[in-house]
Amino acid sequence: MEKIKVGVAGVGFIGAVHIEQLRRLPMVEVVAVADPFDATEKARRLGVQKAYDSTFEMLEKEPLDAIHLCTPNNLHFDEALLAFTKGVHVICEKPLTTSLENAKRMSDAAKKAGLIHAVNFNYRFYPLAYEMRQRRLSGELGEVYSVHGSYLQDWLFLKTDYSWRLESDISGRSRAFADIGSHWADLVSFVTGLKPVEVMADFATFHKTRSKPLKPVDTYSNMMLTPEDYEEIPIDTEDYAAVLFRLENGGRASCVISQMFAGKKNEMRVLIAGSKRSMIWDSADSNELWVGRRDAPNEVYEKDPSILAVPTRRLSSYPGGHVEGFADSMKQHFALIYEAIASGTTGEHEYADFDDGLMEVSLCDKIIESAKTRSWIAL
Ligand SMILES: NC(=O)c1ccc[n+]([C@@H]2O[C@H](COP(=O)([O-])OP(=O)(O)OC[C@H]3O[C@@H](n4cnc5c(N)ncnc54)[C@H](O)[C@@H]3O)[C@@H](O)[C@H]2O)c1
Repeated sequence: MEKIKVGVAGVGFIGAVHIEQLRRLPMVEVVAVADPFDATEKARRLGVQKAYDSTFEMLEKEPLDAIHLCTPNNLHFDEALLAFTKGVHVICEKPLTTSLENAKRMSDAAKKAGLIHAVNFNYRFYPLAYEMRQRRLSGELGEVYSVHGSYLQDWLFLKTDYSWRLESDISGRSRAFADIGSHWADLVSFVTGLKPVEVMADFATFHKTRSKPLKPVDTYSNMMLTPEDYEEIPIDTEDYAAVLFRLENGGRASCVISQMFAGKKNEMRVLIAGSKRSMIWDSADSNELWVGRRDAPNEVYEKDPSILAVPTRRLSSYPGGHVEGFADSMKQHFALIYEAIASGTTGEHEYADFDDGLMEVSLCDKIIESAKTRSWIAL
């Protein structure tokens, strides 16, 4: 079987995860990477044969079937548009891009190209997150009354913690919500099947200025720098976002998103109150699903394919008792995308596509507007 040839643009934190998880798919071969910083060394470390300093050069010179965009947010737009003109399928990291106008253009270009377009909202494919969706579809949850939860991290806790995500011209006008709140909102829509119709948001920026390192750093790695390598810069994006949502069925949702919660490394919680059951899933304990009942004992389901809904089983590669997590969710996500690429199917699918990416960018815009105007905003 001829393998699907893939290039990965941006080989920082998540680009390396993409490459490692793509290796678990027999029909895929990562043939090249692009990164302006140490591309050759990054390719060598990951065992990829070709390295380019520029994504555009890689797209011009390599006969790729698909490209993964793992670069900072402001670069996705030009990279995706060029890929589509070259007939290359695009798997883009979230958020899709940094402005609503560009998100619309990306979504239009994707449809016009007739190629596969996907956004890496990978939380959908943790087996027990996906199981929540199955239980809603089967009617076991009942009507959704309310959803609440949080996404908490601490890697930007200190004033000396730094990343390109703190620069709005690279990252976009929202930080905490666009970066991690978008995962929460996407997962809630995916599980409940409900879209928000109005939002009300409160933002806070606890560090009004931060100390920026004088050299580029990959995500999470700035914890290793020392204070003398910094300059002081103003911060214009939120460390914290609290958002209320009115849902299309009259239900309610609320979340707290923070990148400054000491001790919480990367924890997303989703708590759903339905008319028949409640469900709680926590990414930090992702191999369990709590199901709450009014009239019978509560239950805790483990990630054991033999006791999960039939559609959930294919998202688990290992038997019960063998933990699967962040990286595995990407493997499962990519497996669905590459099945679509291999079979040439652009129709119904469960992976997030550029329309979902556009929806999240649009939601984020309304959330920013609400935080600025301190009012409810209709979507
Ligand atoms: N789905 C997820 O859970 C998840 C997790 C982390 C990051 N992300 C997303 O992935 C993207 C990258 O984030 P990251 O955390 O890996 O950042 P990172 O800073 O660790 O890595 C970014 C990489 O892009 C490279 N780069 C910079 N400019 C480039 C250019 N012009 N062309 C090619 N490469 C370039 C950098 O050298 C670096 O290697 C962002 O959009 C982010 O939101 C998603």
